[in-house]
Amino acid sequence: MDAGAAAPGPGPGVYVHVPFCAARCDYCAFATWTDRGHLMDAYVDACVTDVRRRVADGMADAATVYVGGGTPSLLPAPALARILDAIPRRPDAEVTVEANPDSVDAAKLRVYRDRGVTRVSLGVQSTRAHVLAALGRTHDRANVDRAVAAVVDAGIASFNLDVIAGADGESDADFDATLTDVLGLAPPHVSVYGLMVEPGTALERRVAAGDCAPPDPDVQADRYLRADARLTGAGLGWYEVSNWARPGHECRHNQGYWSGEECVAIGAAAHGYTDGERWWNTPRPERYIARIGAGRSPVAGRERPDGDAAALDRFALALRTRAGAPLADADPDAVGELAAAGLLDVVGDRVVLRPSGRLLATEATRRLRPAPGRADGRIGTRYIGVPG
Ligand SMILES: C[S@@+](CC[C@H](N)C(=O)[O-])C[C@H]1O[C@@H](n2cnc3c(N)ncnc32)[C@H](O)[C@@H]1O
Ligand code: SF4
Repeated sequence: MDAGAAAPGPGPGVYVHVPFCAARCDYCAFATWTDRGHLMDAYVDACVTDVRRRVADGMADAATVYVGGGTPSLLPAPALARILDAIPRRPDAEVTVEANPDSVDAAKLRVYRDRGVTRVSLGVQSTRAHVLAALGRTHDRANVDRAVAAVVDAGIASFNLDVIAGADGESDADFDATLTDVLGLAPPHVSVYGLMVEPGTALERRVAAGDCAPPDPDVQADRYLRADARLTGAGLGWYEVSNWARPGHECRHNQGYWSGEECVAIGAAAHGYTDGERWWNTPRPERYIARIGAGRSPVAGRERPDGDAAALDRFALALRTRAGAPLADADPDAVGELAAAGLLDVVGDRVVLRPSGRLLATEATRRLRPAPGRADGRIGTRYIGVPG
């Protein structure tokens, strides 16, 4: 599959947000709650009603479905199945569920498989106990091994393992050992993120108090390049700045997002993109439930990016992919400079980042698209309209 250029089949992506977690990890700023478990049933009812209204309004069969969070695997399997069953989708749809290694088991995974789940994304982050502790994770390496074995036993076609680089106390040897452990699980897909200190998190407070060191960008850059070399060497091709996959295991849902396909957002805090408009649902689960229950729209805001902003967004997202961005849309002088600096290649009519250029993707976009008045570096995390 030609990543980046490869769009999912016709039909939108559907992103469902599950805003519940057993505990909040120290670094996490996602819309998720650890004290709202009592809302799960009502929340699932609301999601199902939201989907049915969208279908009644003409939503086409989904090409991809992505259930993200929060921790979707915290929902009882029949509850998650109710949401999946409500979403009309193409027979070849990709259906991803995010899971924490300590909240999936064989029984849940069999239900997922029977309901058409084709992909499970597991938050591994590290396999070193002291690194997991520094991140505030609740699982250990044995949970990861068990979860992966259960995914494989259930016959789910594909899975992803998330890794975070640069936690306090993580040495190069720790990171390498995590990569070795992760590759030992023969994953078809791996995502590697540099740890970010997000506002409002426990990590931010610890860093501000001097209790732990902030991530060192040079260390993270070095680990990124090591990860790229090892993952590529193991047959997982890079296809987006943070993502590597065996051929055919690229996440079609995220590819749809990166190439500007429509995405219908279901659930609190979920972001969608339809009819040229970006929109987002009310962030709090109780308000989402109340709005849906009252027959009202859950949409809390919308914007229609103007032509320049939309073009810049498209360029920035494309530049992060292996297919690259159109050469014709880039400033020729900047292309020459960045190519001379070894940060990108011109491949036919596209500009494609080299590994060292991927580390500077946001800056590369700024240089390649020096138009005045363009948006800043809010360049697609996978969590806008998706996740992630
Ligand atoms: C919604 S979570 C994944 C599913 C599940 N809740 C879990 O944590 O296992 C999405 C992923 O984003 C990454 N992530 C979240 N916050 C991050 C941060 N501050 N810096 C770097 N990566 C982060 C983690 O790798 C995490 O697995
Ligand atoms: S990283 Fe995942 S498990 Fe941890 S708080 Fe965020 S969503 Fe929940």
